Amino acid sequence: MAPISLRNIQKSYGDLQVIHGVDLKISSGEFVVILGPSGCGKSTLLRMIAGLEDITKGDLAIDGRIVNHMEPRERGCAMVFQNYALYPHMTVAANIGYALKVAGVSKPERQKRVEETAKTVGLTEFLDRKPAALSGGQRQRVAMARAIVREPAVFLFDEPLSNLDAKLRVVMRAEIRRLHRQLAATSIFVTHDQHEAMTLADRIIVMNSGRVEQVGTPSEIYHNPATRFVAGFVGTPAMNLLEGRITADGSFRDAHGTDIKVRPEMAGLYAEQPVVFGVRAESVRLVEPGTPGALTACAEFIEELGSTRIIHSVVGDAAFAATVSPDIRVGLGERVGFAFDSKDTHLYAADSGSRIGA
Ligand SMILES: Nc1ncnc2c1ncn2[C@@H]1O[C@H](COP(=O)(O)OP(=O)(O)OP(=O)(O)O)[C@@H](O)[C@H]1O
Ligand SMILES: [Mg+2]
Repeated sequence: MAPISLRNIQKSYGDLQVIHGVDLKISSGEFVVILGPSGCGKSTLLRMIAGLEDITKGDLAIDGRIVNHMEPRERGCAMVFQNYALYPHMTVAANIGYALKVAGVSKPERQKRVEETAKTVGLTEFLDRKPAALSGGQRQRVAMARAIVREPAVFLFDEPLSNLDAKLRVVMRAEIRRLHRQLAATSIFVTHDQHEAMTLADRIIVMNSGRVEQVGTPSEIYHNPATRFVAGFVGTPAMNLLEGRITADGSFRDAHGTDIKVRPEMAGLYAEQPVVFGVRAESVRLVEPGTPGALTACAEFIEELGSTRIIHSVVGDAAFAATVSPDIRVGLGERVGFAFDSKDTHLYAADSGSRIGA
């Protein structure tokens, strides 16, 4: 177990800066997920922590020691990659034990630790096989075992489940969570999959374009997105976001002049300012079209999900969705009204994208 601290960590490739100063404190034994779209710098950040990539600027400390210039193997981190990086010519047992062999651990000790680790991840009966004779999930377990056997203080995972089918991913997520409870090592897990982030994380770090947008528990990230980016990135369907301005009496007025009651306390602060208004599909109720204070639009596409139904429409020029119960019947092209409670609404400054109010 080891705490990790990043202070103003930056990375440039030549003139191209890809990480713009990341500050982060990760507690001992914490499971942290870095979530963000492709190309935002997740792998780069993780590889800098592992020591596989130079740090251009800033300080990285593991267990209280600055490790910027330490070799990867001196940092006490074990990394699990997306492609597993197994040695194809070695058996499962040899793959798991390889790092111990390199470190000069005696053969009997090696054998003992390999067997224990194989048991932990459910690989005992596969120890004599080569990776080619394993399923994707079993290979993934070998990759995990190879990290576990070294008894690292820190686990680093770079999208380790993205090559697995949807069902196996869910099983392996539960497995990783269980292992984390058992081993209690500080873990950093990179993914672009929000469901994975939500189910695994003690805390999620949302990244965008080389910057941290928000750090919080899954619930904080979902219920209180700190920026317009996080609001639009986390949640399925994505949060409905409309551009408009705040009126003198504290309502939000969209491009068509429809007034929506938001948070009255915003009136004085943001009157006449351009803002982005947000409400999640599940917080939207269907009402009669034309109801005062409600949005009116046409149902353009209806997504059947079994236990719920999502009505998709367009308000102004923005997509707008409402999740409703499957017994609510709406025809394609039908005019509908959308209403919501002001406590379920979110506001962001149009220029900075920062959250306005609590
Ligand atoms: N060796 C390199 N030279 C130049 N640019 C690089 C190099 N490696 C990565 N980049 C750039 O750095 C940025 C961040 O890349 P990174 O691999 O960290 O993204 P990521 O968030 O892991 O994306 P993904 O989800 O697709 O894996 C990208 O714009 C990428 O093109
Ligand atoms: Mg990556």
